[in-house]
Amino acid sequence: MEPVRFGVIGCGLMGREFASVSMRWLHLACELPRPVIVAACDLSPKNLDWFRQVPDTKYFYSDYHELLANPEVEAVYCAVPHHLHAQVYGDVIRAGKHLIGEKPFGMDLAACEEVEAAMAGRPEVFVRCASEFPFYPAVQQMVKWYREGAFGQIIEARFAIKHSSDMDLAKPINWKRMRAANGEYGCMGDLGIHTQHLPFRLGFSPRTVSAQLANIAKTRPDESGVPVPCETWDNAILMCEAQNTAGDTFPMQLEMKRMAPGCTNTVEYEIYGLNLSARFTTDDPNAIHYTQAVGREQAWARLVIGQKTLYPVITGSIFEFGFSDSLLQMFAAFVSELRGLPCSFGCFTPAEAHLSHRVLTAALESYTQKRVVTLE
Ligand SMILES: NC(=O)c1ccc[n+]([C@@H]2O[C@H](COP(=O)([O-])OP(=O)(O)OC[C@H]3O[C@@H](n4cnc5c(N)ncnc54)[C@H](O)[C@@H]3O)[C@@H](O)[C@H]2O)c1
Repeated sequence: MEPVRFGVIGCGLMGREFASVSMRWLHLACELPRPVIVAACDLSPKNLDWFRQVPDTKYFYSDYHELLANPEVEAVYCAVPHHLHAQVYGDVIRAGKHLIGEKPFGMDLAACEEVEAAMAGRPEVFVRCASEFPFYPAVQQMVKWYREGAFGQIIEARFAIKHSSDMDLAKPINWKRMRAANGEYGCMGDLGIHTQHLPFRLGFSPRTVSAQLANIAKTRPDESGVPVPCETWDNAILMCEAQNTAGDTFPMQLEMKRMAPGCTNTVEYEIYGLNLSARFTTDDPNAIHYTQAVGREQAWARLVIGQKTLYPVITGSIFEFGFSDSLLQMFAAFVSELRGLPCSFGCFTPAEAHLSHRVLTAALESYTQKRVVTLE
């Protein structure tokens, strides 16, 4: 099958994850075009050099415009700081290259709209935003149950992602903790989409937002150990009134925390319904916990799902699924949709990213004005 020839812009943490995915494509037990990373671009020579060990990569750039001028590049994975998203994603699209851009898909709502304007000028370009956690098989089980109507009337839902490495106040500051590069959203820009892909795709539509935001670490050491202001929000709790397509109205909580004791990128998805309730956590990534209503008492069960993936893999279904497996599934979904192949659960769409920005913008407004903000 003809591969998809990619360029990577931003060869840091996530750029490398994609390179790893592209090299373990034989893990998939199905026919899908492999993403072949022919070109890489980074301002940092050290980060770019890492890509010299990728056997497919033969073009190395420090200026992404040169990568975009390369006719061999058909699609781009872009993983750069948030303040660059609008310009770089827009340039990728205007160059006619398909794009999978990293979250939050623009530093703010205006930046997201700039990317959408570029899309309007190049409707033939396929654009998606990266978001991998819904590709855990246990989460896909939740999706299946929801689509089958097993939950019944929804009572409540909660979607969270929690880190704790920032609890170490000696952890040096980086761009994700600086307003100039990370924007006003702080932790919400970094983490928001991880809490939104699943509910938005299930059709849980937020109607109102009431936010509690906390800036706990007011300073952090810079590279030389000197304390400098750390102005970004560390923790955010958004309480929304949500409605689904069945017309149920219910509370939906979105939690994004950099300072959550004991958590290391802990994702928690919980949907409670009158007939069925289900909980997933990356602390127990292999399993889904569920309970069925049988009157006044309910008992929680733990169902081990293993590697029953959206796209079949060579790994036996009894073995555990992990973070890098979810990235493999996400890129499989991206190339499937790009090539018009079947895809029952696709990557986060630009329209969903727009809704995400509206929710996060409303959260800032809610917290500063101390009121509940209604989304029109
Ligand atoms: N999907 C996920 O789970 C996940 C996890 C972490 C980060 N992210 C997202 O990925 C993106 C990048 O985050 P990261 O953690 O990889 O950051 P990073 O700092 O590790 O990497 C960013 C890279 O971009 C490079 N860069 C900066 N300006 C550039 C330019 N003009 N041209 C080319 N390269 C440039 C930097 O030198 C760096 O190597 C962000 O949008 C972030 O929110 C996603």
